[in-house]
Amino acid sequence: MMDQPIRIGIVGSRYAAEFHYEAYQRITGIDVKVIGVTSITREHREKFAMERGIQAFDSLDEMLSEVDVVDNCTPGYAHEPISIAAFEAGKHLIVEKPFTGYFGPGGDTNFKGNTFSKEKMLEEAVASSRRIIAAALKSKKKLCYAENWIYAPAVQKEAEIISKTKGQILWALGDQSHSGSPSPAYGIWRLSGGGSIVGKSCHPLSAILYLKQVEGLSRDGKAIRPKTVSARTHEITRNPRFIDRGFLRTDYEDIEDYCQIHVVFDDGMVADVFASEIVMGGVHNWLEIFANNHRVRCNLSPINAMELYNPQEEQLTDVYVVEKIGTKQGWSTPAPDESFMFGYPQEIQDFIEGIATDREPKAGMLAASDIVGVLYAAYLSAERKGIEVDIPLDPSL
Ligand SMILES: NC(=O)c1ccc[n+]([C@@H]2O[C@H](COP(=O)([O-])OP(=O)(O)OC[C@H]3O[C@@H](n4cnc5c(N)ncnc54)[C@H](O)[C@@H]3O)[C@@H](O)[C@H]2O)c1
Repeated sequence: MMDQPIRIGIVGSRYAAEFHYEAYQRITGIDVKVIGVTSITREHREKFAMERGIQAFDSLDEMLSEVDVVDNCTPGYAHEPISIAAFEAGKHLIVEKPFTGYFGPGGDTNFKGNTFSKEKMLEEAVASSRRIIAAALKSKKKLCYAENWIYAPAVQKEAEIISKTKGQILWALGDQSHSGSPSPAYGIWRLSGGGSIVGKSCHPLSAILYLKQVEGLSRDGKAIRPKTVSARTHEITRNPRFIDRGFLRTDYEDIEDYCQIHVVFDDGMVADVFASEIVMGGVHNWLEIFANNHRVRCNLSPINAMELYNPQEEQLTDVYVVEKIGTKQGWSTPAPDESFMFGYPQEIQDFIEGIATDREPKAGMLAASDIVGVLYAAYLSAERKGIEVDIPLDPSL
């Protein structure tokens, strides 16, 4: 254990940075201190820093010498350079999803991801992932992949059931959907690395990949890994026949807003995941596992811990109800502690414990690397209208 607090520097000062910061405030048993933040908009990083009594740094370089851990909460396009800079400076890394991806040839603002060769994209995304993993291995610092679904209490409970009963997952089914991301970078491939596949399906897929790892490790001492993928994507809100009634975000430039993905694992068992930007009624996060010895449904959102009837919208103006709910009037199911149900504090707790005690986090290099292969192989399959594609796995892991 370290005698000094573990010092954190956050990169990015918007949504992800906010919930990561909140998660640090809930850490128990380890002394941790968020030192500061840096991002590309001065005004925003200074406001973020001032509101939290931390330092605003003009650049990552300035922040690096003051921290032990870089928490990368930037959009996907910035993940690789910031992550590698962190490892080269000898810092541990926490990095948001997507771990990395393909964002077009550097500086080409005319790049359109939806029409670009997916074969090239897969090759480049996997190469990017391998560069970050290589930098992590060289630095011997921790790579913590902030895939919160792995830490959601419902997913962890299922991991316990799988490992204690030695159950076999035959089929997993999952979904993350809502009415559109609040990030201005989302919708532009060169910033986000893709649409529903990269931005949303990554969550249920990562949870399923994790559960198959747990299954293999607990039964045979060897993780079960994904082998092939088939996928379809659609651009529903850019379909000229889409009738816009104003309830869904529609300003995407070159990404898909619907996907379905079928994964076959190396044990021959399967998973199906849906993700989209066309679902109203609050964020829809769930996973169903059909095992050889049990069946379970993991609900991250909505959950029915509370059932609220509100006769008048305005009464709840200052009350948070649930992510992405379109209206607070009428019946709703408020999440009393949504961050907890999503696994946000638990992931940061695990990362900091892993760093303090020199052990691997539950979501580390394997989770980060495998999902990049699955997601971009899915794009290649979708380009081929659903033909099965082999998933390239990192041979160093
Ligand atoms: N796990 C989850 O549930 C979840 C939820 C939301 C977002 N995310 C992920 O978190 C990341 C950030 O999402 P967001 O919604 O906060 O995005 P955002 O676009 O709203 O904010 C990004 C922040 O990064 C900063 N930034 C961008 N490029 C930078 C660079 N090169 N150097 C330094 N700072 C830079 C911006 O100034 C901004 O402060 C994304 O990768 C997203 O996929 C995860």
